[in-house]
Amino acid sequence: MAEHKHDLLVIGAGPGGYVAAIRAAQLGLDVACVEKESALGGTCLRVGCIPSKALLESSERFHEAAHGFATHGIKLAGVELDLPAMLKRKDKVVTTLTRGVAGLFKKNKVTRYHGHARFEGPGRVVIEGAEGAEVVIAKRVLIATGSSVTPLPGVALDGDRIGTSTEALSYPEVPEHLVIIGAGVIGLELGSVWARLGAKVTVLEYLDRIMAGMDSELAKAAQRVFAKQGLTFNLGVKVTGARVEGDGCVVEYEGGEPIHCDRVLLAIGRRPNTEGLGLDTLGLTLDSRGRIPVDGHFKTTVDGVWAIGDVIAGPMLAHKAEEEGIACVEHMVTGYGHVNYDAIPSVVYTHPEIASVGRSEDELKAEGVPYRKGSFPFMANGRAKALEQTDGMVKILAHAETDRVLGVHIIGPRAGDLIAEAAVAIEFGASAEDIARSSHAHPTLAEVIKEAALAVDGRAIHL
Ligand code: NAI
Repeated sequence: MAEHKHDLLVIGAGPGGYVAAIRAAQLGLDVACVEKESALGGTCLRVGCIPSKALLESSERFHEAAHGFATHGIKLAGVELDLPAMLKRKDKVVTTLTRGVAGLFKKNKVTRYHGHARFEGPGRVVIEGAEGAEVVIAKRVLIATGSSVTPLPGVALDGDRIGTSTEALSYPEVPEHLVIIGAGVIGLELGSVWARLGAKVTVLEYLDRIMAGMDSELAKAAQRVFAKQGLTFNLGVKVTGARVEGDGCVVEYEGGEPIHCDRVLLAIGRRPNTEGLGLDTLGLTLDSRGRIPVDGHFKTTVDGVWAIGDVIAGPMLAHKAEEEGIACVEHMVTGYGHVNYDAIPSVVYTHPEIASVGRSEDELKAEGVPYRKGSFPFMANGRAKALEQTDGMVKILAHAETDRVLGVHIIGPRAGDLIAEAAVAIEFGASAEDIARSSHAHPTLAEVIKEAALAVDGRAIHL
């Protein structure tokens, strides 16, 4: 078996792993990255964030062209869906970006291995590729293997009619009736895509609310909007099984009649990818949820082995993994690195978008933190009116005594972009007054953030 030596081997080329590899190379290490898929970029680039955003954009345009242009005084006749072209564009976006990562590896002299990596004790990793096995010896190994869909007993995934987000990014025709199990981020984003393209969409959710963990005021507002868009929610139901029957599927749940549909999307969360990694050869034990325990510097309990991203605790988000990857290798090389978990935004790319950063109002109440709240609706914003996108609001939560911004929650147009200002504010320890006194260009959607900050002190101007 050929043996190669590197300063650092990163296992997994998702947003956590590939970013860590590039940063480590910038810091002067001889870095290699091993990936089992032929394309780099991980779930996010290949079958997650990026293709779903491409389809969200295309389906929103189709929906607007079919239903939204008349208000702007534009008459369109015969709007038709060309689904194969839509899917092809999505695939092209993905290919361009995954090739881009390969280009970045070349530029930064990151050695790329293609195959499945497995530890054979600390510092020794066997890579099984199409052309046989090779060994990498590295003093430092960073595990960034991500996560995969959590299965549900009784739901027999067949990789076609009963599938995961991967299949739902490439349905060859618009389903007549799509049943989604789980009203989380994936269910709502992909449910929106297929509903806009004409599918009847039913969402079955175990809890009595959608978007668990998100500020409940926002979640309620979002549910009202999604229901208006045609999504049917069946909350507080326990799915007991799903199977293919004839050329359709049947979904069974407790307390209701079975639902007949033509496709099922299982989206009840994801679990860390740790199987087959040979972690037993390191003596590394997982926590109760199957994640790899790490310290504040992302070091595992085994010398020379680090872990970041979806395989460790915390939100399963690409940008969280990126931050951790960078901080981890900076710790390795310089002794310093920083991730502020209070300032990691989270975005749901539906229409309108939903975005938040910091504490939710529910959390502040539960923790007994005294807070003041300022809300401002997009309805009262000139730019939102001009865009004809007035659904939603911004809510700012600030400490009652210090005025420090603790949480910002947005439902509305471009919320995912607007939240960046709030993340920076929290990172810098800004007060609501700081935001209120910063000039925001007029007319922009960002003025809603300024007005919400003014509203914290009861002095919003346009309300
Ligand atoms: P999720 O954790 O967001 O939501 C899963 C939902 O399924 C929860 O509401 C849960 O209560 C429900 N559920 C669990 N078991 C159930 C059952 N037996 N029957 C019915 N409902 C059940 O998980 P999701 O949507 O699968 O996303 C996976 C991960 O991917 C998340 O951690 C998410 O953060 C990430 N992601 C992030 C995106 C973004 O940032 N825009 C986009 C897509 C995914």
